[in-house]
Amino acid sequence: MFKKFLNKFSKKIGIDLGTSKTIICIQDKGIVISEPTVVAINNRLDQIIAVGEEARKMIGKNPSYITLAYPLDKGVISDFEVTEKMLKYFFDKIFQENFNFSARPSVIIGIPLDVTEVEKKAVEDAAMGAGAGKVFLVEEIMAAAIGARLPIQGASGSMIINLGGGKTEIAVISLYGVVISKTLNIAGDEMNKNIIQYARDNFNLLIGEKIAESIKIKIGSAFASEEETTVEMRGRDLISGLPKEIIINDSQVREALSPSVISIIDAIKSVLEMTPPELVADIYERGIVLCGAAAMLTGIDKRVSNEAEIPVRIADDPATCTIRGINFLIDDQKLLNEVLMPSAMDDKTVKVGK
Ligand SMILES: Nc1ncnc2c1ncn2[C@@H]1O[C@H](COP(=O)(O)OP(=O)(O)OP(=O)(O)O)[C@@H](O)[C@H]1O
Ligand SMILES: [Mg+2]
Repeated sequence: MFKKFLNKFSKKIGIDLGTSKTIICIQDKGIVISEPTVVAINNRLDQIIAVGEEARKMIGKNPSYITLAYPLDKGVISDFEVTEKMLKYFFDKIFQENFNFSARPSVIIGIPLDVTEVEKKAVEDAAMGAGAGKVFLVEEIMAAAIGARLPIQGASGSMIINLGGGKTEIAVISLYGVVISKTLNIAGDEMNKNIIQYARDNFNLLIGEKIAESIKIKIGSAFASEEETTVEMRGRDLISGLPKEIIINDSQVREALSPSVISIIDAIKSVLEMTPPELVADIYERGIVLCGAAAMLTGIDKRVSNEAEIPVRIADDPATCTIRGINFLIDDQKLLNEVLMPSAMDDKTVKVGK
């Protein structure tokens, strides 16, 4: 009776647990947390000292007794304990700011395609450990399709591509389900690595991850534009060991990014090749939809469209498609039931090692 009473007041929470960013929404309120998925740990005391944006500020500037932990790897929990603590930190923040009671909320969380039962259970356990009362799992790509307003319920195919930090998911969706898909461990973070490698190979310059990312965001592109843009790139000269700055232009950055861009395009083509012809016809008519924050790479839509010979559009506010889809599911129990993944908790044979 008391539990029922509490449930009535308990708001549902949605989580997009991304490799780069964790975004959390609550019922009737929308997005309340959007922070980098990174945690700073004091090794001497074995204590978390900063989470999210605060921890990100320390990247590349931390003394050896502070470790920066990225608890997700390619969309999957790689450090269970840190993930649980990070979620608990965010939940506590939400509770303090939004609720004045302590009912354990129901939580809807997105999971990548092709996760194992153990990986699925780790997500459920981390959310429960952080304070959830019940956990509902949905595929991130389905949530993203809902967020991008694709007609997932009909018997007609849509292709959605989520370009994230740790992974790219390519899926053809029809009748509430993924018909065909491919996951690539190449996405935004690999693009940063491409720029670091390019600077090393071409200029003997060692640059940090944050600098590589800011260059990508400022002048990175996948399709040539008429106007040249440049940006300064600062780092350490690998030969002299001294600080060095060079000016890099958009065509050099495009060249640097090309291994990732080519891999993504090849994967899209291979999914199209495997897709039944009727669905390809639908996709051609509707166009491929790109989402995920890395879909903001300038010209990626044009490049994919040129190479795959299919119209392409970028979803509105691509970085929040997944969480907006989850937010939609919070209020639509019927749709949630259609896209819900079976819980790993139902399978008594699976035991996860923490
Ligand atoms: N304007 C931009 N141009 C290009 N890339 C961008 C831009 N803004 C963000 N990114 C990149 O997008 C990536 C993060 O995407 P997103 O937030 O969708 O990932 P995620 O959901 O945390 O990760 P994943 O879905 O892979 O688990 C980062 O690599 C970031 O550098
Ligand atoms: Mg994501």
